[in-house]
Amino acid sequence: MAVIRVELAGRAYDVRVGAGLLADCAKQCAPLLRKTDVPIVTDVNVSHHWRETVTASLVEAGFKPHFLVLDPGEAAKSWSGLEGVVEWLLGKGVERGDHIVALGGGVIGDLTGFAASVLKRGCGFIQIPTTLLAQVDSSVGGKTAINSKQGKNLIGAFHQPALVLADTGALTTLPRREMLAGYAEVIKYGILGDPEFFAWCEDNGASVVDGDADALVRAVEQSVAAKARIVAEDERETSGTRALLNLGHTFGHALEAETGFSSALLHGEGVALGMVLAARYSARIGNISTADAERVTAAIASSGLRSEISELALSCSGSELAAHMLHDKKMDAGTLPFVLLKGIGKAYLDKNVAMDDVAEFLSEQLAR
Ligand code: NAD
Ligand code: GLY
Repeated sequence: MAVIRVELAGRAYDVRVGAGLLADCAKQCAPLLRKTDVPIVTDVNVSHHWRETVTASLVEAGFKPHFLVLDPGEAAKSWSGLEGVVEWLLGKGVERGDHIVALGGGVIGDLTGFAASVLKRGCGFIQIPTTLLAQVDSSVGGKTAINSKQGKNLIGAFHQPALVLADTGALTTLPRREMLAGYAEVIKYGILGDPEFFAWCEDNGASVVDGDADALVRAVEQSVAAKARIVAEDERETSGTRALLNLGHTFGHALEAETGFSSALLHGEGVALGMVLAARYSARIGNISTADAERVTAAIASSGLRSEISELALSCSGSELAAHMLHDKKMDAGTLPFVLLKGIGKAYLDKNVAMDDVAEFLSEQLAR
């Protein structure tokens, strides 16, 4: 097991990465559990595959798990979803010093983390992420949220977990498409800040997505270490460092909006295409070579992710795609900061991107 510390003054915590952590969850969590009763929020799919393992570990150690099992999917991240979780936790007598367990993907982690942030004005929680995306991104860093009619993740709080247990063995039951979507966030860390890790991804991306145990552990460890460094430097995304994690997200957001935030394009799939666009746009404005932009494209394509937006067969124009970007929550006082590249492993925030040029660029990409 690898242990990565997220160094936040007064709120530092461990992210423990390895295969078999679910079966060992009682021992891992015990120092944080003050009571026999352990409230666990999860979803139907995760419960189906992993409830027995978690229950066996807790019961053997003398704990009594209580599961709230939600329908899978983004719809749980709503006001009514939040109400359901909070009322259930209150009914279980949860107190401020207790820890709630979030067992699942990013949906369960974001919802449960937000519930923990408001329950009794803030109680503790433990993240046990079971998707690749949640292990490398959403469970680390304390962003919690639900969605609004106005957009995704618009209502939330920064609320750090007390512990993250990333069991790479839990990914054996994850559908391949979800593995691929999570892998987009893995390779992102290489493209934005670590050329050596990017080169490793070029050679090992397909093994990660295929679930090779050693490759998965390395991918999750490296990704979490990168995210932990960034979060420790800029917890609340004020200095520009944490904003670099949005590489691929602004272009990706336009694609997700155009496809109605539906299962036609998963978030990670949009981010993968968005990173190709960010790299090619960086080449267009002369920051990087076309060869480097195509190296990014090839690395994404070789993992099995789509890398050309023409593959989405969208019927919109480049201007329509660019218009979606102006509704991005990253808009800041009328400007839209783009995460672009000055090299592979050298992302930066560009606040001077001309939207009419972006629209023209997107038209060319749609026709490619
Ligand atoms: P998800 O939680 O919807 O999980 C994807 C699917 O996989 C679901 O159907 C789920 O039931 C299933 N599943 C989960 N674990 C499984 C397992 N081990 N075996 C089989 N099936 C399993 O989606 P996600 O991609 O994990 O997370 C997406 C969410 O994360 C979005 O709401 C997004 O906004 C949020 N997010 C948050 C942050 C953050 O910093 N807080 C970062 C990125 C994304
Ligand atoms: N997923 C982006 C962040 O945590 O800041």
